[in-house]
Amino acid sequence: MTETQSLSQWERVGGAPAVKAVLDRFYEGVLGEPQLVGFFENVEVDNLKPHLAEVLKVVLGGPGAPTDIDLAAYLTGAHAGLGVSESDYMLTGKVLLDTLAEFDVPDDIVETISGALVTVQPFVVAA
Ligand code: HEM
Repeated sequence: MTETQSLSQWERVGGAPAVKAVLDRFYEGVLGEPQLVGFFENVEVDNLKPHLAEVLKVVLGGPGAPTDIDLAAYLTGAHAGLGVSESDYMLTGKVLLDTLAEFDVPDDIVETISGALVTVQPFVVAA
C-alpha cells in the first residue's frame, strides 16, 4: 500500500490547518446569508469552529478523533431550542458544499461530507 492510500480523508484534505481555512470561509458564507445570520447574533463563531472541526475529524477519520462521541446526542443538544428549519439546514449545507468546491476538495471527500449532512439533519433541524 502506498502512503497516499493509507491516508485518511482528514489528512488528504490537509489536516487541521486546511479544515480551519475551510471553516473560516464557511462561516463567512453563513454570516453573509440574511436567512442564517440571525442564528449567530449572540454567538461567537470563532468558538464554534473548533467544535465543528472535531465533528469533521470524526466524519473524515482523522487521527486521534474521538471514537466514543455520540453525535446524535451532542448535535441534538447543541441545537435544541434554536428552531432550525429544513430550509435553514438546506441553505447551510449549500454554503458548505460551495465552500468545499471553492477549495477544490476531492469528490470522494465531498461525498463523505454530503452523506454526513443527510445523517445529522434530524439532530439539527427542529422537530
Ligand atoms: C451540518 C450540520 C451541523 C453541524 C455538524 C453543526 C455542529 C455544531 C456544533 C458542533 C456546535 C457547537 C456545540 C458546542 O458548543 O459544543 C454547534 C452550535 C451551533 N449551531 Fe450548529 N451545526 C450544524 C448545523 C447548523 C445549522 C443549520 C444552524 C443554523 C442555521 C446551526 C446553528 C448553530 C448555532 C446558533 C450554534 C450555537 C448554539 C449556542 O451556542 O447556543 N447549526 N453546531
